[in-house]
Amino acid sequence: MKPISLADLGQFKKDKHKFATITAYDASFAQLFYEQGIQIMLVGDSLGMTIQGESSTLPVTVEQIAYHTRCVRKGAPDAFIISDMPFMSYATPEQACHNAAILMQAGANMVKIEGGSWLCETVKMLGERSVPVCGHLGLTPQAVNVLGGYKVQGRDEVTANQLVKDAIALENAGMQLLVLECVPSSLAAHVSEELLLPVIGIGAGAQTDGQILVMQDALGITARPPKFAKNFLAPAGNIHDAIHMYIREVEEGIYPDESHSFS
Ligand code: KIV
Repeated sequence: MKPISLADLGQFKKDKHKFATITAYDASFAQLFYEQGIQIMLVGDSLGMTIQGESSTLPVTVEQIAYHTRCVRKGAPDAFIISDMPFMSYATPEQACHNAAILMQAGANMVKIEGGSWLCETVKMLGERSVPVCGHLGLTPQAVNVLGGYKVQGRDEVTANQLVKDAIALENAGMQLLVLECVPSSLAAHVSEELLLPVIGIGAGAQTDGQILVMQDALGITARPPKFAKNFLAPAGNIHDAIHMYIREVEEGIYPDESHSFS
């Protein structure tokens, strides 16, 4: 399999070819996911909750993401790896450059940061220094203390309009990919149409260009899974077939259906 690039993802969007991505934190799952056909993986700071058992992503450090990025890179040498920049690791553009370098040197192809237009300067600075940036809007888990919980975002006109403005501003600043989490399907569809870059949804309906799931949610391991999560392991019976099923359902627009989306 030829390694996938950002240009390929852009072409997927133009061709309306939907793609599935997943979080990965270690070499063995990364290898399995890649061999089953998932070429894009996120070393998410969700590992704070899924691997470390914390109650939020806030305690995760740059060194921990770098460690898991190295593990995933070893398991899937040709995957396109997005690594999360943890809470406060990009509070200023300079800090973002310093910490992004650590993640890129650990094997990331791109870094992901959570937040709106206030990050434009950071996105620009990273891009000019050859660090591709994925944005993250909607429910941004690092802001859980401001948001007051893990809630659907952009339900009213004011916050929905702000989200669209933020997405456009970040794209203009050089953002090359966007994760949109827990927003109404209609808003996610609108953002995906407005932007040239590929939008990856999680709890954002079926109209985004790609989908991402936390691997524990996709494999039915999470004790209290979010509404948008689907346990692919239960119907498939084994992990390999579960991943095949996830990829196929995303490509064919079967997942997420309305029961796994917000209106
Ligand atoms: O950290 C993570 O796993 C994420 C996904 C929920 C998109 O940011």
